[in-house]
Amino acid sequence: MAKFRKIGILTSGGDAPGMNVCVKAVVNKAESLGIDVIGVVGGYAGLIKGDLIDLTHKSVANVISQSGTMLYSSRCPEFATEEGMQRAVETCQKNNIDAMVCIGGDGTFRGATDLTFHGIPSIGLPGTIDNDITATDYTIGLDTSINTTVRMIDNLRDTCESHERLVVVEVMGRDCGQIALYSAIASGAVAVVVPEVPFDEAAAIQKIKDLREAGKRGMIVVVSEGVFNPDGTPYSETLTQRIKEQTGVEAKFYRPAHTVRGGVPTMKDRTIAAEMATKAVDLLVEGKSNRVMCQIDGKVVDMDIAFALIADRMYKNKLKDGDLDKFTPEQIEEMKALKAKREEEILNLYKVASEIGF
Ligand code: F6P
Repeated sequence: MAKFRKIGILTSGGDAPGMNVCVKAVVNKAESLGIDVIGVVGGYAGLIKGDLIDLTHKSVANVISQSGTMLYSSRCPEFATEEGMQRAVETCQKNNIDAMVCIGGDGTFRGATDLTFHGIPSIGLPGTIDNDITATDYTIGLDTSINTTVRMIDNLRDTCESHERLVVVEVMGRDCGQIALYSAIASGAVAVVVPEVPFDEAAAIQKIKDLREAGKRGMIVVVSEGVFNPDGTPYSETLTQRIKEQTGVEAKFYRPAHTVRGGVPTMKDRTIAAEMATKAVDLLVEGKSNRVMCQIDGKVVDMDIAFALIADRMYKNKLKDGDLDKFTPEQIEEMKALKAKREEEILNLYKVASEIGF
């Protein structure tokens, strides 16, 4: 027997391929349980304004292959204020929204946990191309964005080979180098630069010179957007300039930027989105909330949002005083294990990229 009359759903932060699959899966699963679903238009800003649309299996019939988000998205600082939150809660109360499913990254989860504590049970789904949420091995959108990036690099490789050029490709991933690492491995880049691993620029420059001397014509270097010069400017552009000056190799710069946030979602993104979304509805019906869906060691599981957010801060070395106070020693050990796992994964990817990149 369904506990809720109506579930609200929103997408927030940067859009990601597969968000629409989440929306469709929540709608279809809820409908099968006799629960209505209402879409919030434009993320948390839409919840504050009361911008809502009814959703049925008909309204989501054809969204499974479309990227972007049919509910639109925004980044909404007002939601972090008490006044914004009160208005959002009023929207839920006025429209009989008993629970929310919120799809996005860490900012979205903070919103979901705040909503829960203001009386609206909420569940978070990880939707961001960056894969930068420590608690989950995978975030919806990563696979599509990497595949798009690799296709673009393949095209660049063709023309680089013809013209004996090198291209530095700057890829998205604000705090996390995974898009860069996977793209570099999959495209045989001669060097990769990510925020998590120190980069030996002199060695990379020497490698490029040696490869050219050995007859390599086309070359690719992948740099994560999260790597900056000391003055805050993008390192990717500086590195391009230095390669030109110090190797004599003709170097071009390319930034696909938001292009890789669009595109038809891959099978992987569709299936994981569908599984996480249907399980989110199950959780709400079971009376659970303040949970985030994660994929750990190949399995979809749910985790306390506060735990996930603090584990994330621990990994990113952004813990604030008192952050760990409400967690047991066992939970803190679990967080440390998640951090260690993520660090090992990044180092392993970096090693593979370095070993095959020539
Ligand atoms: O959603 C993640 C992300 O794509 C990052 O990789 C990037 O830094 C950021 O969003 C860009 O944000 P916006 O779309 O607001 O420019």
